[in-house]
Amino acid sequence: TIFPVVMSGGSGTRLWPLSRLSFPKQFVDLLGGEPLFRRTLRRVSGGVFAPPFVICNVEHRFLVAEELRQAGMEASAILLEPEGRNTAAAAAVGALAALRRDAGAILALLPADHLVAEPAALSGLLQQAAGVAAAGYLVTFGIVPDRAETGYGYIRQGAVLPGSVGGASGACSVAAFVEKPDAATAAGYLASGAYLWNSGMFVVGAGRLVEEMRRYCPEVLAAAEAALAGARADLDFLRLEATAFGSAPSISLDYAVMERTERAAVIPAEVGWHDLGSWPALWSVAAKDGSGNAVVGEAHLRDVRGSYLRSDDGRLIAGLGLEDMIVVSTHDALLVAPRSRASEIGALAKALAASG
Ligand code: GDD
Ligand code: MG
Repeated sequence: TIFPVVMSGGSGTRLWPLSRLSFPKQFVDLLGGEPLFRRTLRRVSGGVFAPPFVICNVEHRFLVAEELRQAGMEASAILLEPEGRNTAAAAAVGALAALRRDAGAILALLPADHLVAEPAALSGLLQQAAGVAAAGYLVTFGIVPDRAETGYGYIRQGAVLPGSVGGASGACSVAAFVEKPDAATAAGYLASGAYLWNSGMFVVGAGRLVEEMRRYCPEVLAAAEAALAGARADLDFLRLEATAFGSAPSISLDYAVMERTERAAVIPAEVGWHDLGSWPALWSVAAKDGSGNAVVGEAHLRDVRGSYLRSDDGRLIAGLGLEDMIVVSTHDALLVAPRSRASEIGALAKALAASG
C-alpha cells in the first residue's frame, strides 16, 4: 500500500479574488467540475492507496472535511497546523504519522492544488515509484519544461537506475536538483535540454524521509516529532501542538532535503500535469474561442482577444476592444489587469489583505 499525504497549505494569492486566505484556490471550483483538492483525493482513492493523510491549516479543517465527504472518502488522519511552516514540516508530520500505522510505509506526498489531466497514468507511475522508493530512493516526477519558469525546481537527469531498483520504470538518478533558479539560470537549463521540472509530488519511504531529515534538517524533524507527540484529538481532527510546531524552521522540502540528498530519483511523467497557480496558467489550459478568449460565466465581447474573462457572480461582462486582459468578477471584488502583469496580483492581494 501507498500512504497518500495531501499537503494543503498554500494560500493561492495570485488567483485573487477567487482564491482567498479563508478559502484558498484548492477548494475553489476553478475549472468547472470539482475543486483541485477533491480531484487530488480521487486520484489516490482505493486500490493500492491507503486512506490519505491530509495536512492543512486549522482554519481550513471544515473545507477539508467537506471535500473528503464529497469524494466519499475517509482520511487516515486530518492533521491541523496552527500556522504554516512550509512543506518540510508538513512532510515530516506526514511521515511520522504514517510510521505509527506502518513501520514500512511508503508515502506519496501530493500538493493539493495541481491539475493532472491523466490520473490513470499518474496512478501507474505512483505505483512504479513505490517500488523505487522501497529500494531507498526519494522519487520525484519530472515534467518536460516548455518555458524558463523560475517558480519551479529543476532536475538534471542522471543515469538510468538498474532494473533491480525499478529501472524498468524509466527511473533515473538525479544528477542535480535546483529549486527556483533565477531567470538566467532557468533559461540556460531550458536551452540545455538536460533538465526536467520538478512536479512537486514525491514518493518516498517514510522511514527513509525521516532519516534524510535527521541528517539535513534535524530542527524541522524535532519540531514535527514534538508537535505530533503533543497533538490533541478534536472531532475528526488531530491538532498539532502549537508551540512545538511553530518552532519548526520554515523551509520547503525542496530546499531542506531534495537539493541535498544523494538518494533522489526521477521518473519522467507525462500525465498532463499543470500547476494552476495564476490566471495566465488557467487561461492557458482553458477552452478558448476563436479569438483566444477563455470565458467563464456570461460575457458579451467585441474585438476582444487573448483574454481570460470570468464572472462568478452572475454579472454579465461586456468587453470592448481588449487584448490579453484578465477580468474576474466575484460577489465582492472585481479584478482587471493585463495578463502580462499577472505575476504582481499576489502582492496586490496581500496588500489588500493587510489594509483590511
Ligand atoms: N500543509 C501544508 N503546510 N502544506 C503546504 C505548506 C504548509 O506550510 N506550504 C505549502 N504547502 C502545500 C501547498 O498547498 C502546495 O500544495 C504544496 O505544498 C507545494 O507548496 P508550494 O508553496 O505551492 O510550492 P511551490 O509551488 O513554490 O514549489 C513546489 O512545487 C513546484 C511545482 O508546482 C516545489 O516542489 C517545486 O520544486 C516544484 O517545481
Ligand atoms: Mg505550488
